Amino acid sequence: MIRLDFSNVLSDEIGHNGLSLDDIQSHALRAVSIFSRKPYKEFDFVDLHNQNLDELKEIGKKVREKDYFIILGIGGSALGPKVILEALSPLHNLKEKPRVFIYDNVDPVTLRNIIEVINLKKTVINVISKSGATSETLASFLIFWRMIKDRKLNVREHFVFTTDPDRGNLRTIAQEYGIPALTIPKNIVGRYSVLTPVGLFLSEVVGVKAEELLRGAKEISKMAFNENINENPVATLSSVLYLMDTMKKRKIVVFLPYSDRLKTLSEWFSQLWAESLGKDGRGTTPYPSLGTTDQHSQLQIWMEGPEDKVILFLSIERHEYQEEIPEEFHDIEGLRFLGGHTLEELLNTEQLATEMALTTNRKPNLKIIIPKIDAYNLGQLFQFLQITTCMTGLLYGINPFNQPGVELGKRLTYGAMGKRGFESEGQEVKNYLKKQRFMV
Ligand code: PA5
Repeated sequence: MIRLDFSNVLSDEIGHNGLSLDDIQSHALRAVSIFSRKPYKEFDFVDLHNQNLDELKEIGKKVREKDYFIILGIGGSALGPKVILEALSPLHNLKEKPRVFIYDNVDPVTLRNIIEVINLKKTVINVISKSGATSETLASFLIFWRMIKDRKLNVREHFVFTTDPDRGNLRTIAQEYGIPALTIPKNIVGRYSVLTPVGLFLSEVVGVKAEELLRGAKEISKMAFNENINENPVATLSSVLYLMDTMKKRKIVVFLPYSDRLKTLSEWFSQLWAESLGKDGRGTTPYPSLGTTDQHSQLQIWMEGPEDKVILFLSIERHEYQEEIPEEFHDIEGLRFLGGHTLEELLNTEQLATEMALTTNRKPNLKIIIPKIDAYNLGQLFQFLQITTCMTGLLYGINPFNQPGVELGKRLTYGAMGKRGFESEGQEVKNYLKKQRFMV
């Protein structure tokens, strides 16, 4: 089970930068109480362990026989699958088939590189979009659609959609052309969708049992309602991050996993945190990081820079391999002392040393601890971070499920690209471009 060590945010440890246990526990209890009322319909993400996996397993089995699998999606429709791939099947494309590409950023060079290495006849393309209206995803879909048609291939065999149960362009096309379409449940929004077919389908395609992810998530969902705060790390973390902002003006949350396999989890968490909480002038800025790498890049500013951060470590007790460091160069102390230890020991010691150094400098830091990285623990982690984000939003009194701030940019893009109904936005873009620019 996930544990949370929050000793180093307490004022006993870090003085005036710290919080009192009473404050943390009372706000954690408040978080549980609002959470238990399930004030938004999007709370369905808490019960995703109940879903039926038959359809995605059946389609997943067929895709496993292919050589290439491409995901088209962006934001919540791409980051979750990226985490699953990187955490549960590291270096996948060098070792196993189907080779997997997750294409999100509509960078034409990336797309061309993917097209050059795949064999379209042996490829399945999974288009993921809850709304079915996202320009980036639809543009890349159109490119592949045309390619499939030009090669006289059957669209039903080469596309799988993952989308809303009844609305949106992808659902319409799926119905018209008989394309297999997996469902993202109605009340689940993009960044809370990794435990739907958005992430679970890929998981099956790469041979990871989807039910293991759900089994982990279920444990956390149960625990999140526990009013005994001493047994509720998720409410405790929400409370700490909320209070660190509102009482201590710590506006940056550094997310710091100590494993390459969880590097993308940092990006996934950052999207979840930023899009859920950054509204009404509230929220804190997530900073995606990686240990030990960022000890040689960011640690200086965490230790001696502005007093505006909380460091959230993610420590993994056992790594899949320990890898012993050989004993060589007995007379060179700089090398000798490493011999006989393992890489796991070094990694975990570096994490501990960083945590101690920050604490000595009275910098608030706390640590999520997981026993190892596997589907069950990753399922726990996803749900742990999703519920933490949601509870923190509830403490702020904001809706953690919408993202009104991203709409204007989307509308201006529609206008500039000539979408009907967005003529005035199109005009706004033209006017903007005519304005005098000050450049050097
Ligand atoms: O979290 C969200 O809701 C967003 O990040 C979406 O996932 C992203 O904008 C993609 O949306 P869609 O799945 O509708 O294409």
